[in-house]
Amino acid sequence: MSRLTPDRRPLSGEGPVLLKVPSDPRWLPLALERFNEVLVDHAHCEKKAAVNALSMLQTYPDLPGLPAQMARLAREESAHLAKVLDLMAARGLTLGRDAGDPYAQGLQKVIRTSHEGRKVDRLLVAAVIEARSCERLSLLAEGLEDPLLRRFYGELAQSEDGHQALFYRLAVTAAGGDEASVRARLEEILVHEAEVLTQVGLRAAIH
Ligand SMILES: [Fe+2]
Ligand SMILES: [Fe+2]
Repeated sequence: MSRLTPDRRPLSGEGPVLLKVPSDPRWLPLALERFNEVLVDHAHCEKKAAVNALSMLQTYPDLPGLPAQMARLAREESAHLAKVLDLMAARGLTLGRDAGDPYAQGLQKVIRTSHEGRKVDRLLVAAVIEARSCERLSLLAEGLEDPLLRRFYGELAQSEDGHQALFYRLAVTAAGGDEASVRARLEEILVHEAEVLTQVGLRAAIH
């Protein structure tokens, strides 16, 4: 499911998006210590993933394959959201308002404004967010003690790994099959992602 770095830390799954840097090793201990906060943030992340899938469908209905794939993705992310909400309810946690995600907001600054550039970049930014989510959820799967939570996060990490590949393939389609240009643009976005991760710093949140 996940690629392991030499010190056996999962990086970004098996998909095409190879993150430039692993998470700060202090993130997992913080996330475990403040897991309830992470869980609430995680619910908001799944909600935003479902909303983003439908937004893509709304904005790019003509991209071959995108509508059906985004409809399925919205359903899958909604199912993740429902499961996280169940876990929260069992712990007496409520969702509350979304405090915003400085990581995703920082990444979105890289999106170009031209129609074609924006389309490719939105798909690639989504792929990168899925790759980082895959890494973080894999870390939780390894770090949590509860076997049910470990399994849950392991399954979710695998699912997000599939999503990074899905968004990457759609970006190639959006670029008219010019994979070399998509690869080059992905490299630029990954460099930016590493900077955003540093700027955001350590948070008791998925990102
Ligand atoms: Fe998800
Ligand atoms: Fe996802």
